[in-house]
Amino acid sequence: MEELYLGIETSCDDTSCALFSPGRGLVADVTAAQLDHERYGGVVPEIASRAHMRTLLPIYESVMEEARVELGDLRGIGVTQGPGLTGSLLVGLSFAKALAYGSGVPLVGIHHLEGHVLANALEGRFETPSLVLIVSGGHTQLVMADMIGRYRFLGGTRDDAAGEAFDKIGKLLGLPYPGGPAIEREAGGGDPGAFDFPRALRQSGKCDFSFSGLKTAVRLKVESLGRLTPAIVRDVAASAQEAICDILAEKSLMAARRLGAKRFYLAGGVAANGRLREMMTERLAPESIPLSWPAPRFCTDNAAMISCAACHHISMGHQDGLDLNSFPRGNLSSWR
Ligand code: KG4
Ligand code: ZN
Repeated sequence: MEELYLGIETSCDDTSCALFSPGRGLVADVTAAQLDHERYGGVVPEIASRAHMRTLLPIYESVMEEARVELGDLRGIGVTQGPGLTGSLLVGLSFAKALAYGSGVPLVGIHHLEGHVLANALEGRFETPSLVLIVSGGHTQLVMADMIGRYRFLGGTRDDAAGEAFDKIGKLLGLPYPGGPAIEREAGGGDPGAFDFPRALRQSGKCDFSFSGLKTAVRLKVESLGRLTPAIVRDVAASAQEAICDILAEKSLMAARRLGAKRFYLAGGVAANGRLREMMTERLAPESIPLSWPAPRFCTDNAAMISCAACHHISMGHQDGLDLNSFPRGNLSSWR
């Protein structure tokens, strides 16, 4: 019988289940994005948890059917425990606990950020020690991965996350939610040098970031320009994307030099950004530090990364009881 691990992810507005095999890699995965949030320009927690309630069971059934596997055949069940929206996390946790209770299959709680990091282990080996830049809608941090399961927090954002900056700037420009992919599309036709937006904390000498000033600078610029023509939207998008990616790449290079990193990974939704990948590659190549990132659909929230993390943790002997609880915030280094 093949070793198969189920992953369940419901931390924000994507409902997702996946099956991972250490031999074959990803066996099945289904993700349903919730589109109801678009008209509000951001995720509405109550709508998110109710949508998880409706879609989680059918999604679970479809991955199990696709892989032709029964619940009792699984080696483990991994579920995102936090950080995330409490109501959304509790839907996934209750569902995972019910499956584990009914079948006796081991249950393990997974830190959402470790899931993002281990999206890099879906299609190849995740090499350690390595540096990881986690950039998503809720998080921006540099982390040293000493080994799978052991991470050191090096620094993070003092205010908005990089993805949040993309989303807020997208909203200012009247672009659809989420702003990141929309800004990248617009930026493709714009001039990244049109406006000189700030790169905050450039001189701090630390692995810290700040993006709230950038959002204000963009707002003031947009207000001063009067009517937003398509050409202005493209130039503002390109210049803002350039500022965000530039500071992320600069601080990553600083951390990599300081720690003598041998390997670098990108993780999280913003890792799907082509300009970020390009700039990071340009800066790390002269240092001979190999850089990798997950396939775009595994950068944003998905259960494939959770099933992969579950495989690693259960293989290491980790298991949680039915008292497993959610947590809304928390760093990787203080977990487990
Ligand atoms: O990892 P993720 O799906 O959710 C969190 O854990 O937060 O990340 C979502 C974030 C959003 O802010 C979205 O705008 C951003 O990732 N994002 C992008 C791109 N694709 C998604 N940002 C920049 N460029 C992209 N192509
Ligand atoms: Zn995420």
